[in-house]
Amino acid sequence: MGHVFALAMQKGGVGKTTTALSLGAALALRGRRVLLIDIDPQANLTQGVGIDPTTLEYSVYEVLLNPERGLDFATCATNAGPALVPASLELAGAELELAGRVGRELLLRKALRTARATYDYILIDPPPSLGLFSLNALASADRVLVPLQLHAYALRAMPQLETTIALVQEINPGLEIGGILCTMADRRTNISQEVEREVRERYGTLVFETTIPINVKLAEAPTHGQPINRYAPSSAGAQAYAALADELEGHYGQ
Ligand SMILES: Nc1ncnc2c1ncn2[C@@H]1O[C@H](COP(=O)(O)OP(=O)(O)OP(=O)(O)O)[C@@H](O)[C@H]1O
Ligand SMILES: [Mg+2]
Repeated sequence: MGHVFALAMQKGGVGKTTTALSLGAALALRGRRVLLIDIDPQANLTQGVGIDPTTLEYSVYEVLLNPERGLDFATCATNAGPALVPASLELAGAELELAGRVGRELLLRKALRTARATYDYILIDPPPSLGLFSLNALASADRVLVPLQLHAYALRAMPQLETTIALVQEINPGLEIGGILCTMADRRTNISQEVEREVRERYGTLVFETTIPINVKLAEAPTHGQPINRYAPSSAGAQAYAALADELEGHYGQ
C-alpha cells in the first residue's frame, strides 16, 4: 500500500508546491511509483511539470464531482517522472458547487481508495487557505509534510497547523505529522540558522535532517516545466531534495 502525504501550511509561498514536485521527481528517479495530486486552483504544480491547466479534458475537478470513478481517468503521465492528477482553472468554482454536498471533505479520500495500491508514494499539494481543497487533502493523507520557511516568525505558524490537524483527525483519526522540512535556508544570515536551531530544539526528530537552501534554480525550474532534477541536476536544490528523498525512503521505503 502506498503512503499518502499532504503538504500543508496555511501560510502561502513557503515551498509546498516546490517540495511536492522536487521530492516526487526525486522519488520517481529512484524507481518509486509516484503520483502527484494538484488540488490547488492556482495549478502551480500542474504548470510546474509543463502541463497547461487550460487545455485539460479531465482534472481533479471531475474527480471531486465523481469520486466513485477513482483517479485513473484523470491521471496523466508527465516528463517529470511522477504521474499527475492535474488541477484545472475550473477548480476554483468547485468549492461553491460542492458546498451543499454531504461528505464533501471526503471526496478525494473516496477517489483515492484504489490508487493506493498502484503507487508507492502519493503527494497531495493543496492551496494555502484552509478550505474544502485543503480539508480534502488532509482527510486523504496518512501524514502531513510541513515546509517551514526559515524566517523570523516561522514557528508562529505551527499552532494553527496543529489545530487544523486536530480538527481533521475527527474525520481521519490516523493523520499525523510525517515531518517538518526547513526550507529556504539562507546560510549567510544568522536569523536563518537561529530559527533552524529553534525548530530542531522544539520538534526534535520530527524535523527532517535535510534542510533545503535558497536556490534560484528551484525558482526557475517550474517556469521551464521541469523538476529540479532535470532542470539543474547538480544544483544545491536538486541535491537537497535528493537527500530528502533518501531520508523519506529510509523511513517509508519497503
Ligand atoms: N528553496 C527555494 N529557493 C528559492 N526559491 C524557492 C525555494 N522554494 C520555493 N521557492 C520559490 O518560492 C515561491 C513559493 O514557493 P511554492 O510555490 O513552492 O510555495 P507554496 O507553499 O506552494 O505557495 P502557495 O501557498 O501559494 O501554494 C515560488 O516562486 C518558488 O519557486
Ligand atoms: Mg503551492
